[in-house]
Amino acid sequence: MSVRAALRDATAPAHEEVDGIFSRFDLSRPGSYRRFLRAQASALLPVESALDQAGAGEVLDDWPSRRRARSLRDDLAALGAAPPASVDPPVFSGPPAVLGGLYVLEGSRFGGTLLSRSVPPGMPRAFLGARSYPLRWRKLLEEMERLLYRHDQVAAAVEAAVAVFACFAEAGRRELENGTSE
Ligand code: HEM
Repeated sequence: MSVRAALRDATAPAHEEVDGIFSRFDLSRPGSYRRFLRAQASALLPVESALDQAGAGEVLDDWPSRRRARSLRDDLAALGAAPPASVDPPVFSGPPAVLGGLYVLEGSRFGGTLLSRSVPPGMPRAFLGARSYPLRWRKLLEEMERLLYRHDQVAAAVEAAVAVFACFAEAGRRELENGTSE
């Protein structure tokens, strides 16, 4: 089984969960879209920082240009939204864990592309508009296959990936529970 297949299988239930949570935001409504972005930010900002600190730039050389914190912050600022409280990110304790985290963040672009179609014209969409480039996705998958060749390495990547999904689930649930209906 490829590393990618192992990650996809192991995180399928988590993906279903976050898909269900984030699908509850109605992106055609400005208030709900703002809360969606806040929820994304409470997970993505700390996870990206944790990956930076764990040396993601050394694991994947174009990591700095893949980061989306800036576009997310810009969208939130354009909507006048307060910066959200962050969830606790996992500690990425080595290259396998870093790759597991990168897999989840980069994979999440697929959903974003679909979701951006619901955002009305005129709304800021730097974050969701950051589309997925097939070559970049392939490069990440190739690095995963190349660097994760032992069972324990794949296990560490899976563990980190599951933990990152959990951050997004928590952030989304929190925003849904605390949010006012707008
Ligand atoms: C409503 C929200 C979401 C929708 C509708 C959605 C939808 C999708 C779709 C359609 C794909 C498959 C793309 C393809 O194979 O061509 C995908 C893949 C993926 N998504 Fe999501 N997604 C959502 C949220 C998320 C979130 C919040 C995360 C993580 C933070 C995430 C992580 C991933 C990953 C890692 C993959 C790649 C799976 C693989 O290896 O093929 N998704 N998503």
